Amino acid sequence: MSASDIERIGVVGSGLMGAGIAEVSARAGLDVVVREIDAAAAEAGQARVMRSLDRGVASGKLSEEERDSAVGRLRFTTDLGELADRQMVIEAVVEDEALKVDVFRGLDKVVTDPQAILATNTSSIPVMKLGIATARPEQVVGIHFFNPVPVLRLVELVTSLLTSPDTAETAERFAVERLGKKVIRSQDRAGFVVNALLVPYLLSSIRMMESGFATAEDIDTGMVEGCNHPMGPLRLCDLIGLDTTLAVAQSLYEEFKEPLYAPPPMLSRMVEAGLLGRKTGRGFYEYARA
Ligand SMILES: NC(=O)c1ccc[n+]([C@@H]2O[C@H](COP(=O)([O-])OP(=O)(O)OC[C@H]3O[C@@H](n4cnc5c(N)ncnc54)[C@H](O)[C@@H]3O)[C@@H](O)[C@H]2O)c1
Repeated sequence: MSASDIERIGVVGSGLMGAGIAEVSARAGLDVVVREIDAAAAEAGQARVMRSLDRGVASGKLSEEERDSAVGRLRFTTDLGELADRQMVIEAVVEDEALKVDVFRGLDKVVTDPQAILATNTSSIPVMKLGIATARPEQVVGIHFFNPVPVLRLVELVTSLLTSPDTAETAERFAVERLGKKVIRSQDRAGFVVNALLVPYLLSSIRMMESGFATAEDIDTGMVEGCNHPMGPLRLCDLIGLDTTLAVAQSLYEEFKEPLYAPPPMLSRMVEAGLLGRKTGRGFYEYARA
């Protein structure tokens, strides 16, 4: 299958990332079915996509007609079986290996096209582990988007030892030619390229704050004003989600056993307390509820 043949996409999960992936796919003219775990989560995902499309209209990036036709190409469901006719499915459920393995087992059973590509948006779980949960590991690949998906162009394309060159080529062309993304390739190592570099920096900022070395505001201001970063590391943790930041750090630590990847206690305590950042209204900073 070539990238230009792909018309029917499935997305599993419609949180921060799944909603963004569904939105850019629908805006690119693809037919999109999104599977969520229950009706409330599906509604929340749909509302998230709508808010983002409305923001696109308000800022003049999108016409009302483009928004309405994107909405017309999106369907939300709680039934994995509705992904049966998809040519590509992109999984974006929470960063939990057992859950993702379960999703891939399910997709392998329901997706009928023998050439369909099963992709994961995981930040840190080996693509290989998801591939071998299926009978078609050569068609399993990592397509790692960045948050917010409609804004950030980068995609890391991650091939496992078993991903076929054809699958990698089709997935790369799909991301570039259909979604307008910029692709870099990475080996199947926890964190890939960007998070392997970014996460130690984020964790250092948490340790710096935890030790009383500097305040959250001063750490963030330091990196924004001193290094011209668009946002400081603690605000970035809040944007990513502290649960996701923790899960990625744990996977990196598990993989490399390097202290620089070890999650600081403050990050674990905040996640246990449900202070997950922007998505819950409070992390290192407070936010109006999304
Ligand atoms: N947040 C980021 O900045 C970021 C960036 C790149 C990649 N990722 C990766 O994307 C994935 C999703 O992260 P997120 O930030 O969107 O998380 P999130 O918590 O915002 O969303 C996860 C969604 O998955 C849904 N879900 C859980 N189990 C499901 C199932 N069995 N079927 C369907 N839906 C299910 C949940 O209801 C939730 O809506 C993770 O693997 C994460 O590592 C996150």
